[in-house]
Order: sequence, then C-alpha cells, then structure tokens
Amino acid sequence: MKCRFKAVLFVAFLLSAVLFAGTASAEAKFVLKLGHAVPVENAYHHGAVRFKELVEERTKGDVQIDIFPNNQLGTGERDILEGLQLGTIDMYVGSTGPVGGFEKRFLIFDFPFLFKDKAHVYGVLDGEIGRHILGLLEPKGIRGLAWMENGFRNLTNSKRPVNELKDIAELKIRTQENKVHMAMWRLLGADPTPMAWSEVFTALQQGTIDGQENPVPVIYTSKLFEVQKHLALTRHVFSPAMIAIAQPVFASLPEEYREVLAAAAQEAALYQREVCDKMEQEYVETLKKNGMEVTTPDIEPLREASGKVYEDFRGELGDAAELLDKIVNSKP
Ligand code: PAF
Repeated sequence: MKCRFKAVLFVAFLLSAVLFAGTASAEAKFVLKLGHAVPVENAYHHGAVRFKELVEERTKGDVQIDIFPNNQLGTGERDILEGLQLGTIDMYVGSTGPVGGFEKRFLIFDFPFLFKDKAHVYGVLDGEIGRHILGLLEPKGIRGLAWMENGFRNLTNSKRPVNELKDIAELKIRTQENKVHMAMWRLLGADPTPMAWSEVFTALQQGTIDGQENPVPVIYTSKLFEVQKHLALTRHVFSPAMIAIAQPVFASLPEEYREVLAAAAQEAALYQREVCDKMEQEYVETLKKNGMEVTTPDIEPLREASGKVYEDFRGELGDAAELLDKIVNSKP
C-alpha cells in the first residue's frame, strides 16, 4: 500500500514537472509590440504576420511579436515612429514618408519621378545606398531591419479626372507630413495639406480635402473608392517601407535573438514585396469594378513641372546629395 502511494506520488510529481516545464516554455521571454497604420488586408500586415511567424518559430516562442494594425498605437506613421523613440512601441512597419522629418537624408526617396521601375528600386534598396540609408536611423534610436515597400504613389480625387497637368490645379490634396512631397504638389498647382493617415478617410468623406495620393494597395485596402471617384496613375513617388525596431530594445536582446530578428525581417520583407507588387497589379481592375474612373496621364509635363524640387531640396540631403545623383544615374 505504502509502495503504491509512493508510486502515485512519483507519477504526480513527474506529471507536474512536465506540466510546469510546458508552461515555462510557453511563456515568452520577450514580448514586442509592433504597430502599423493600415488595415489587416494591406501588404504591410501580411509582411508583419510572416515576420511574427518566423521569429516565434525560430525562438521557440521565447520572442513573441504582438501586431497592432490600423493605427491602434497612434494616429499615423509619424506618431508610431515617435512611440519607438519614446519607448512605448517596440517595432514599426511603415513608409519612410515621415522619416525625413527627423533624418533629412531619408528625404532622398521623396524626390518626384526618381525611380523608373521596381527593378530600379530594388537595385538601390538592396545595394550599398539602401543599406547606408537604413543605417542612418540608429543615432535617432531606431534600427531599420529591412526594406519592405508601399509602392508607387498615385493621385485620387473627388472633383475631376486627371488627364493632364492643368487638371491638378487647385486640388486640395492630403500629403504625408513631408516637405518634399508638399513642395512637389505646390509646383504641380495643387494645394497640399499634410495630415495624419487616421484622419484622411473622414476628411475625404466630409470634403475638407479633395484628394490624396497613395499606392494602389492602400487605395483599395483602405476603401478609398467609397469616397474618391477618380484615380490617376501618376506614379510620382516610389514609397519604400521599412520594418524597424527601437534601438534600445534591439540592443537588450541576446545576440542569438538579434540574429533571428534580422534574418526574419529580411525574409518577411521579400515576401511582403511580392504580395504588395501583386496587389499593385491586380487592384487597378478591382478599383474600376468598385466604381473608380482610372486615367493614365502623360507624366512628362508633371516631371518637368516638379523638377525644381531637385534644385530646392538637394542641399537638404547633406552628405547624401551625391547618392541622389547615383540613383538618378543608375536608371536602367
Ligand atoms: O499616406 C500615408 O500616410 C502612407 O502611405 C500610409 C497609407 C500610412 C501607408 O504607409
């Protein structure tokens, strides 16, 4: 009897040891909050989910990534990035649009009609220039891990189809909080109004602005077709995106996890670019089906009219100005 009791106790001890070990390994050692500004249908979210899966699998759950989409952690991308700098948010997936506000050399990507096509973009982002620019954020408390993408930006509005330069005149266009973008729209004759992304849909709906500019995947996944009739495929700026982490958070992780995060970000970025590119190609038709009128204006007059941006803002790039020339000269 005594013997049987001991055996039962032993089995109970083994069971609780196994259960305890299970709980311990199921509990993450590091939980990272990742924020982005767009709905879960957008390619950013697909990229963030792939990143989460890779990291959690490769660290056996020791590092957990919690994703907060659709501006849950801020009013827009500038706000989320500030959260990284303040230590309230750990990770960011989003465009580089607001970054020029605190690291001027990032404005290099905001010059109009800079990139010819995606091959040109990837050649730059995946080469020396892309690596250099991504590294510039470290002194600002942010570590860029990899280049994702938002896509080529296009103009939408509720007033009229845009077939030529004169059709842009006096349109009140929401822009990102980015002085190069604003200067470009002024040169094109529009009235640029910078605004946080979370406010844009309502502003379009209420008519306080006439239009906005964003890549096709954003226009579709944010349902702008409900409040915008006209889409002009202007492809005026290529909008890179990045997956980034607060530098102190990154530095606090053990080396093996830092390596996992860096590799997972790179893999997730390549996947995200594919998803985004597919959306860019497919969603023009989808937007037409949802009632948008799509025009393809001749971009030469737009390029000419906005060319002065290069003169006016080249100086802002400081030691990155020569990289701008390299990008221009590397056009395939
Ligand atoms: O226009 C913007 O603010 C950005 O392009 C967006 C929609 C937040 C995606 O990066």
